[in-house]
Amino acid sequence: MGTTEIIVLVSGANRGIGLAIATGLARHKGVNVLLGCRDLDRGKEASIPLQAEGLRVRPVQLDTTDEDSVLALTDLIEREYGRLDALVNNAGIGLDYHPTLSVAEQMRQTLEVNVVGVLRLTEAMAPFLAKSNRPRIVNVSSELSSFGMRADPNWAYSAIKLPTYAASKAALNSLTVSYADQLRDKGFKVNAICPGYTATEATNFSGTRTPEQAAVIAVNFALLDEEGPNGIFVNEARELPW
Ligand SMILES: NC(=O)c1ccc[n+]([C@@H]2O[C@H](COP(=O)([O-])OP(=O)(O)OC[C@H]3O[C@@H](n4cnc5c(N)ncnc54)[C@H](OP(=O)(O)O)[C@@H]3O)[C@@H](O)[C@H]2O)c1
Repeated sequence: MGTTEIIVLVSGANRGIGLAIATGLARHKGVNVLLGCRDLDRGKEASIPLQAEGLRVRPVQLDTTDEDSVLALTDLIEREYGRLDALVNNAGIGLDYHPTLSVAEQMRQTLEVNVVGVLRLTEAMAPFLAKSNRPRIVNVSSELSSFGMRADPNWAYSAIKLPTYAASKAALNSLTVSYADQLRDKGFKVNAICPGYTATEATNFSGTRTPEQAAVIAVNFALLDEEGPNGIFVNEARELPW
């Protein structure tokens, strides 16, 4: 492993925006991507065309709600890489309007993935990121959680009501601010991005953006240089209010 190599872990990388982020990162020279996948077989399948393209991608088992899964990945990274340069917390779910779950259960399960899962993975990976000379964390959030956008009566998405999802991403945004503050002195840059309304399984493919378009902002923030911002919320066009 060369010292100039950049090692990135992307959670939820077997499909949708996560797969596009992993692909976009791996197409950058010197970037080696670990594709965190709940189902390793799906991750292997998703990796086939990328490996055929000559990209340096490796599927690894990762369920962010499962302590043992995160510990096993921690061991693998310790053994085989010894450090991590960027973590993209992409794995996320939305359960609003689930046909059988109560609203309280929708909230509980969504928080488990979108907030506790991110926290669990970030805590596990922070020591490896601290060994990098350019540690970066990108949290994949959503402008649906933005208090500033929601207060604007002309906001394009004001008709979309996803209360438990929005609350979970608002908590993720708060964690972003806390980690950015906490890790600043160690040279980390921790930011939240919104990929935009994207055609994936999560939106029943109704989104107007492609996963490739959605991935650009996350890729850029995972590879931020020293001059880049810390502790902000952005989409492709501009900085967003929290
Ligand atoms: N699509 C949009 O319009 C949109 C807009 C704003 C923000 N986002 C955010 O973008 C991210 C990706 O969304 P997407 O649209 O690509 O969704 P998606 O197609 O549903 O993909 C979600 C990914 O997360 C994984 N995942 C779910 N629970 C997990 C867990 N406990 N541990 C590890 N991985 C887990 C899924 O794995 P399985 O395949 O095993 O289920 C899948 O790989 C999410 O955080 C989402 O909230 C999406």
